[in-house]
This record gives sequence, structure tokens and C-alpha cells, in this order.
Amino acid sequence: MTFQTPVSAGPSLELSEEHLMIQQAAREFAQKEIVPIAEAFDHSGEFPYETIKKMGQLGFMGIEVPEEYGGAGLDTLCYVLAMEEIAKADVSHSTIMSVNNSLYCNALTKFGTEAQKKKYLTEVASGAKIGAYSLTEPMSGSDAGTMKSRAVLSDDGTHYIINGTKSWVTSAPVADYIILFTMTDPSAGHKGITAFLIETDKPGFIRGKKEPKLGIRASATSEIYFENYKAPVDAILGEVGKGFKIAMAVLDAGRIGIAAQALGVAEAAYEASIHYARERHAFGQPIGSFQLIQQKIADMKTRIEASRLLIYNAALAKMRAEKTGERYTTEASMAKLFASETAAYVTDEAIQIHGGMGYSKEMPLERYYRDARITRIYEGTSEIQRIVIARNELGLR
Ligand code: CAA
Repeated sequence: MTFQTPVSAGPSLELSEEHLMIQQAAREFAQKEIVPIAEAFDHSGEFPYETIKKMGQLGFMGIEVPEEYGGAGLDTLCYVLAMEEIAKADVSHSTIMSVNNSLYCNALTKFGTEAQKKKYLTEVASGAKIGAYSLTEPMSGSDAGTMKSRAVLSDDGTHYIINGTKSWVTSAPVADYIILFTMTDPSAGHKGITAFLIETDKPGFIRGKKEPKLGIRASATSEIYFENYKAPVDAILGEVGKGFKIAMAVLDAGRIGIAAQALGVAEAAYEASIHYARERHAFGQPIGSFQLIQQKIADMKTRIEASRLLIYNAALAKMRAEKTGERYTTEASMAKLFASETAAYVTDEAIQIHGGMGYSKEMPLERYYRDARITRIYEGTSEIQRIVIARNELGLR
């Protein structure tokens, strides 16, 4: 049996010159600069400052931010194409990129005042500084509308005093600025949540210990504590009481990025599996000649391409929404749900195809498997994505 070059591969959507250029630039950078260091950073759990800095110089830390605010001024399709390539090399790098781009920069671009954009967006979009997003608390994860942290307006009305604990904040150990969602009016439920721009070098902001994680070990995550932190009123993002809607709208964008990240790691595991199925012999034949392996390859490939189409569809929906003001919540949740479940499936089957070698730290398969696992949890679990999709379809609240 001989194996020839596949007759069809890749997306059916026609990509423009600009899209192909950013895809190629991200692919070259990721394969040259990230692939060689990914395993070492996974092992040490160190934050990859140098490569993140270079990603900033290439425009990858603020892809959709207008150039006047330090970004690359490109569209959402460019963003997902770049994200896929970075994640294919290393999910940790893509997590740092994702939070910086779609949670932090996207929130400021959409909801920030001119002065806030100048102060808090430009340096983060250009990669000189790092941004984070903080919604979750120890007792509120999926039920994001309930939170114990509080911001109380000072007697003279010039600032808020913030107290409380936030958890699972991606990039918190290194972030310069954080978008914080906290309660300004506990009696109003989710309508009492307000978003604040936090400067992490100010008194009253305290970083907790770095979380030891199963995967994405080079992406730093920690709790953060506020002890009488003073936020001036002009550090409010959007309006008082509108924080929950901002958090949700920004998560719609974030979920498309996580979907593209899941696609990238699934592709890396799939490509390794194709290579192995051709090279590895058993019972006198390459294992790719056995139908039980072929079934896995067929299902992996089909789910990967279906994920890609859902992701491109969500990216296009977001681009349309920027003109119409409509929501693209369902498209984003479907892409995240399907792509993250696909990443789990593909990385698991890839280990099965590789057998003992897949389980060994000699190969990156076990890292892909560990890293892929988070995509079903953060920025809304698979269960939450299903709730969001079904509620929107049924018109339920
Ligand atoms: N865009 C804009 N507004 C939205 C919205 C969206 N996507 N989704 C909901 N809203 C609005 C609703 O219209 C509603 O507005 P009104 O008050 O005017 O009626 C309001 O928000 C409340 O909506 P719901 O009643 O649907 O809220 P809910 O309490 O039932 O919660 C939920 C809905 C979908 C479960 C939501 O809580 C959710 O998405 N939970 C998951 C949270 C999550 O993803 N957390 C991850 C945090 S980030 C992270 O992972 C860490 C990191 O650093 C990467």
C-alpha cells in the first residue's frame, strides 16, 4: 500500500490576499519561534515573555484594534486564522493572545471612551503591555451574574472603593491592566454589575499565587484580591450597572477565539496522526491501511472541517454585527461548543492512534490532550454554550 498526497484539504471559503498573508505570517512565526520552545515552557510553567513580545511587534496582540490605537486594524477572519496557527504550535501562547485580543482589546474598542482607549488600549494592542479580563469569583463561575466582590462609591463621588476576590484570571500574574466586573448595587442582581479598568500597579491590588494547571501551563493564571482599591469614576468602562451585558457581549467575541484555538490544537494532533498512520507498521502493514484507523482519521478530519466552517461563520457574523449592531451569540457559542468538543475528541483519538508513543512525553500528543481540555471549560463550559444556543433558539430568557 502507498500513501499519496491528499486530494482535498482545507477550507472551502475563498480567503482574500490579506487573510492569506496573516495566515502565512502567523504560521511561519509559530512554526519557527513557538514550536521549538513549547515543550520547555509547558514543563517549566514559565510565562513566555519573549515570544509574546515578538507577537506584539507582529501585530498579533491587537489584531482587530484600529491602527490609531496601536492595533493591526484587521478583521475577525484574520484574527481566527492567526489564532489557529498560534494554537497549532502551542495553546498557552494562543490563550495569552486570545484574552489580550478578544476579551481585553475588544471590550475597550467597543465600550471605551476616547480617553480610555488612549490610556488603556494602545499599549496593550501593540503588545507593549498585557491586558486581562476578570469575571469569575470563587463562588461564581457559570452563574456569572452573582458575585460577592463590591465597589462602593466614595462620599465625595470621585471614586469607587473595591473589595473582594476574583479567581481564574488568565494572565493576572503578568497583566498591567485588567477589566474587572464587580457589584456596585447588590440589590439589582446582574443589573448592579459595573465594569472597571484596573491598574495593577496601584495600592489595593494584590496578585494571588499562580494556579498549578493540568494544561496551558505557560499561560499564567491566578486569583486576584482587592483591598480598598480606589478606582476613579473615569475608570468605569461603559455605564454603571451595564457591566454584565459588557461581560456577555465580550465573551461572544472571546468564544470565537477559543474555538479557533481548539481548531488549531486539533489540527496539530490530526497532522501528527496522519504522519504516524503512514509511517508506523504493524502486522506487516502501515497502520493507516487498517479500517479501524481509517475510521478515526475520517471522523477526525470531518469534525475538524465542520469546526472550521462554524468558526468562519461566527467570524463573519461578528463582522456583520459590527455594521448592524446585531448579536452573534448563537454563532459564537456553536463554534466554541463544536470546536472544543472536537479538540477533545481529536487529541484523544490521536493518542489512541499513536498508542504508547502518544502517552509518552517524548511526543507532543499528551501536551495537546492536556491543553485541549480547557477549551471545554473556560469562557463558558460546553454545558453553558448549549444553554445559550438553546435559549436563543427557543426565545427563552
Ligand atoms: N450579549 C449582550 N447581552 C447579553 C448577552 C450577550 N451575549 N447574553 C445575555 N445578555 C443580557 C440579556 O439580554 C439580559 O439583559 P436584560 O437584563 O436587559 O434583560 C442580561 O444580559 C441577563 O441575561 P440572562 O438572564 O440570560 O443571564 P443569566 O444570569 O441567566 O446568565 C449565562 C446567562 C449564559 C448562563 C451567563 O451567565 C454565562 O455566559 N455564564 C458563563 C460565564 C463564563 O463564560 N465565564 C467565563 C469567564 S472568562 C474565563 O473563562 C477566564 C479567562 O480569563 C479566559
